Amino acid sequence: MEVVITSSPEATGALVGAAIARLVTERAEAVLGLATGSSPLPVYDYLLTRSTEGLDLSQVLVFTLDEYLGLPADHPETYRSFIRRAFTDPAGVPESRLRTPDSEAADIDHMCRDFEQQITAAGGIDLQILGIGRDGHIGFNEPISSLASRTRLKTLTDQTRADNARFFGGDPAAVPRHVVTQGIGTILEARHCILIASGEQKAEGIAAAVEGPVSAAVPASALQLHGHVTVVLDEAAASRLTRRDYYRDTYANKPDWQEI
Ligand code: F6R
Repeated sequence: MEVVITSSPEATGALVGAAIARLVTERAEAVLGLATGSSPLPVYDYLLTRSTEGLDLSQVLVFTLDEYLGLPADHPETYRSFIRRAFTDPAGVPESRLRTPDSEAADIDHMCRDFEQQITAAGGIDLQILGIGRDGHIGFNEPISSLASRTRLKTLTDQTRADNARFFGGDPAAVPRHVVTQGIGTILEARHCILIASGEQKAEGIAAAVEGPVSAAVPASALQLHGHVTVVLDEAAASRLTRRDYYRDTYANKPDWQEI
């Protein structure tokens, strides 16, 4: 695991966005796994700026991590609507190259299997962007999710619904209770995972995920089992890490310091 501490969310956006831009420049049809929520927005903003300067993002294939169940497809807070608004539409990614779990599926199990098959058929995810919940969730794999789990239905905790109420007029009861999420086993198959966090409210989850034991109680700790993970944090999110001086030192002295 590589831990990079940046000066701000914007610096995180530039660092992670540049890594995505390099990948897409090498392989226009790169398969990107994208998170929704606030954490990755600076990355998407950076990439959108680069696209106005000539970076062609139109051929990437995008898979999202998760989706709320029960919202009408045209609801502005489905994760499909969210990622279209925040990234794929302005980046010129055609809808046919955006794969999200179906928020209205009648047969959830079938839809989950189909979503997994689409990832496999695409040759797997080259680069997966992740945020982290205060409780250590990745995707919507809440604590005690199996570390081997695949795409499936999950129930959100009250804390996650309260945290996401800001997207639903501040009302936790308006946040769907049920979601479909890539499993932890699914996420661990991506070739490179980049976990992004900013703010003091993420510090405890980050410390547990990075320096604590691997445990289903902290789903993000499963990333310790992956061979290529980069954790990109601002100072506040890094504040509970006991080895942060070592991480700073390591990154500052990295021979190929421009690359993550
Ligand atoms: C979103 C997702 C979630 C979020 C997490 C953090 O697709 O999978 O795990 O990344 O809840 O959300 P923010 O970034 O809004 O704090």
